[in-house]
Amino acid sequence: MNQTYKEPVAIEFKNILDTEYTEELRNWRNQDFVRNNMTNHNLISEEEHRHYLDSLRNNKEQKVFVALNCQEPVAIITIKIHWDEHYVEPGMYIINKDYLGRGLGIVMSYARLEYIFELMPEGKMKTTILDKNEKNINLQKKMGCVFEKSIMAVDANGKEEPASVYFLTKEAWDKNKEEIEKRLERDFGLKNIARIPVEI
Ligand SMILES: CC(C)(COP(=O)(O)OP(=O)(O)OC[C@H]1O[C@@H](n2cnc3c(N)ncnc32)[C@H](O)[C@@H]1OP(=O)(O)O)[C@@H](O)C(=O)NCCC(=O)NCCS
Repeated sequence: MNQTYKEPVAIEFKNILDTEYTEELRNWRNQDFVRNNMTNHNLISEEEHRHYLDSLRNNKEQKVFVALNCQEPVAIITIKIHWDEHYVEPGMYIINKDYLGRGLGIVMSYARLEYIFELMPEGKMKTTILDKNEKNINLQKKMGCVFEKSIMAVDANGKEEPASVYFLTKEAWDKNKEEIEKRLERDFGLKNIARIPVEI
């Protein structure tokens, strides 16, 4: 990366339900470069989106955070918490195509891992990535994620696509974190990146 996202940097996270962006979320998720990398490629309808938002209210297992830089929404982080199976399944996407490839993916991956292991220190982070999504595979390996298994991801229409499950433990993250923090310090200033509060 030879160009940082932009100046100044002051990244914070809010629960999407506590913001004015609940409707905008559907447009962000429906962008081609986002949906084509998700298991479900379908365009999300208004009705589906309403049900999704309803399902998020008072939900202790599923959360959606919006990352704001100086109040401007820049990325989405989704979290599914599997309390009984002791793992957390995050997702994420940058919401403005112009900001791809400028290090925000590393910021989001860092923030969500810190959140996950604060929430569930004994658990694992697990993520399923489509095999064609080379960018995210590289990114998650950089964070320390390890290949677990190959699967066929099935979309809402029953269409299958090759994918792989990757995981990371807190122990491995604690070893890897320093390198990532050095990079964040260099590119953004670590103090300019807030934590995702576990209580929101
Ligand atoms: C995946 C995604 C979040 C990465 O965010 P990003 O801000 O573009 O990535 P970054 O600039 O932070 O790059 C981080 C790392 O990702 C990998 N990467 C990024 N762009 C890449 C590219 N064009 N080709 C290969 N690897 C790439 C590299 O390992 C890079 O590290 P480096 O800078 O040391 O080379 C972003 O591309 C995105 O939102 N994609 C659409 C949705 C998506 O795929 N979400 C994940 C679904 S599981």
